[in-house]
Amino acid sequence: MASASQIAPPAVRRLEGKVALITGAARGLGECTARLFTQHGAKVVIADIIDDVGQAVSQTIPDSTYVHCDVTKEKDVQDAVDTAVSKYGKLDIMFNNAGINSAVNRDSILENDLEDFERVVSVNLTGVFLGTKHAARVMIPAGRGNIINTASVSSIAGGLTSHAYTGSKHGVLGLTKNTAVELGRHGIRVNCVSPYVVATPMSKDFFRLNEEEINNLYAPLRGAKIEPQDFAEAVLFLASDESKFVNGHNLVADGGYTITNYGFTVFK
Ligand SMILES: NC(=O)c1ccc[n+]([C@@H]2O[C@H](COP(=O)([O-])OP(=O)(O)OC[C@H]3O[C@@H](n4cnc5c(N)ncnc54)[C@H](O)[C@@H]3O)[C@@H](O)[C@H]2O)c1
Repeated sequence: MASASQIAPPAVRRLEGKVALITGAARGLGECTARLFTQHGAKVVIADIIDDVGQAVSQTIPDSTYVHCDVTKEKDVQDAVDTAVSKYGKLDIMFNNAGINSAVNRDSILENDLEDFERVVSVNLTGVFLGTKHAARVMIPAGRGNIINTASVSSIAGGLTSHAYTGSKHGVLGLTKNTAVELGRHGIRVNCVSPYVVATPMSKDFFRLNEEEINNLYAPLRGAKIEPQDFAEAVLFLASDESKFVNGHNLVADGGYTITNYGFTVFK
């Protein structure tokens, strides 16, 4: 699997001089995006709760720094934003990416417990709320900024994963739209990215599938499989000035999965 670190340096650096904070960046999609952002000239604050992994990753990414930040804790999020500003002078891009799924994959809502539901919502949705709030705190006085949230195909489709996850990701999309309207008045864009299943520790654990099995999951676009790099490139587009008039958008990277009606299609 090609990772961002194996891709040749870009000819045009699309985030030159920008400062980004990425939550959940110690591994998986967040780590891949952190690598791509720095290759494009950004300084990146990697925020996560797995400190040993995050610190080790940061040491392999020039122009990055690691901070411990549990996105469910307001003080942690506040401190992470303040670290970006004190270390690099400003915050241009807030990427609210940290996310989890239910501890156990259970079909029936009768078997779903409140504690698990609230845990997922607190990371996936409350975490985005706190990240957006504290990014806005420093972006509003600057009169500009760019907030990107990680949603999922489960932000627009049901039946793909747990109730908690699907509910939380629909919430991320709603929060993205609402804050895009408010913060747009301050020159701050808010968008989200919704990937299909990508082979990462989270998806492998939840679906109990290996990388090859995940890559073989059905999507109508043949000859292409989604890799972390594809997700990171979608985030890069929203982070760059090339998308300067895109606001409140859900950029779905799913090979056409969610626009297909699998119960009725004339295409074989
Ligand atoms: N992998 C997929 O198939 C897929 C598909 C759609 C959406 N997503 C979303 O992509 C995002 C990244 O997921 P991933 O697949 O890279 O998973 P991952 O588990 O590999 O990475 C998630 C990271 O978030 C961190 N994290 C968890 N709880 C946290 C907290 N409270 N505070 C701060 N950090 C925390 C983890 O330590 C980890 O480093 C998530 O929002 C996830 O919902 C993933």
